[in-house]
Amino acid sequence: MFRMRPLRTLMRRVLGSGRARPATVPTNTERFYPYTRQLSAAEIAAGKHRAAAGGKWEELGKWQFEFLRGQGLVPQDYLLDVGCGALRGGIHFVAYLEPGHYAGIDCNASYVEVGGRLELTRAGLEDRRPSLLANVDFEVGRFGRTFNFALAQSLFTHLPVNAIQRCLVNVTAVLQPGGRFFATYFDAPTVHHLDRIQHPSGVETYSDRNPYHYHASIFAYLATSLPLRVESLGLCNHPRGQSMLVFHRS
Ligand SMILES: C[S@@+](CC[C@H](N)C(=O)[O-])C[C@H]1O[C@@H](n2cnc3c(N)ncnc32)[C@H](O)[C@@H]1O
Repeated sequence: MFRMRPLRTLMRRVLGSGRARPATVPTNTERFYPYTRQLSAAEIAAGKHRAAAGGKWEELGKWQFEFLRGQGLVPQDYLLDVGCGALRGGIHFVAYLEPGHYAGIDCNASYVEVGGRLELTRAGLEDRRPSLLANVDFEVGRFGRTFNFALAQSLFTHLPVNAIQRCLVNVTAVLQPGGRFFATYFDAPTVHHLDRIQHPSGVETYSDRNPYHYHASIFAYLATSLPLRVESLGLCNHPRGQSMLVFHRS
């Protein structure tokens, strides 16, 4: 026999109990779209931004700088750092590039703020005129210039594919002919690899939630009808075992 449940029970099923969830369980927003939480002044004062924006501060900062130098980056180049975080790599690039030649964009305004103030000041780089933008939609056209290098270090690893698509289209629009967009990602062995992957670095990745893994073929698909050619560079000694792609702008 069908018996109507009390309205309160039904509402609880649809909306949840309203009780606070344990701190260890991520909300759906955090699970599918992380890095939305703004750092507090206390966290910044305690230096917690370095861990929050990716950890391995020294190692990954230097690694990305040395990687692009190995790819031919010279001080006269113009670099767009997509998902620049708190300038873990940015401080190295800002120190190396000519003043005004570095631009960084990140969706988390507190990371951009702490990178642009605290980290640059600490490194004695306040007068190097980097352009920094807090923006979630990859509106890189707002820098008002073009670039011959672009980098997305540990960004695609946190993005669903439709966000990568927006990033790629917008970055392509500001990439000079002959320019290159380097992007790291966690590699999946097959096109439809739905199981989790335990990487040797200890990171576990997923096909449908953060941190994501992708088969390289999806990037070739996303580049379809854009003036881009995609090349896989492999692991490149990335400290977390990510692989590297380069999109060549024709
Ligand atoms: C693991 S951190 C890497 C930061 C930086 N590339 C580095 O190596 O230090 C990933 C960064 O991507 C940023 N991010 C995530 N989604 C973004 C979006 N839609 N637009 C811009 N940045 C985004 C996060 O806020 C975070 O700072």
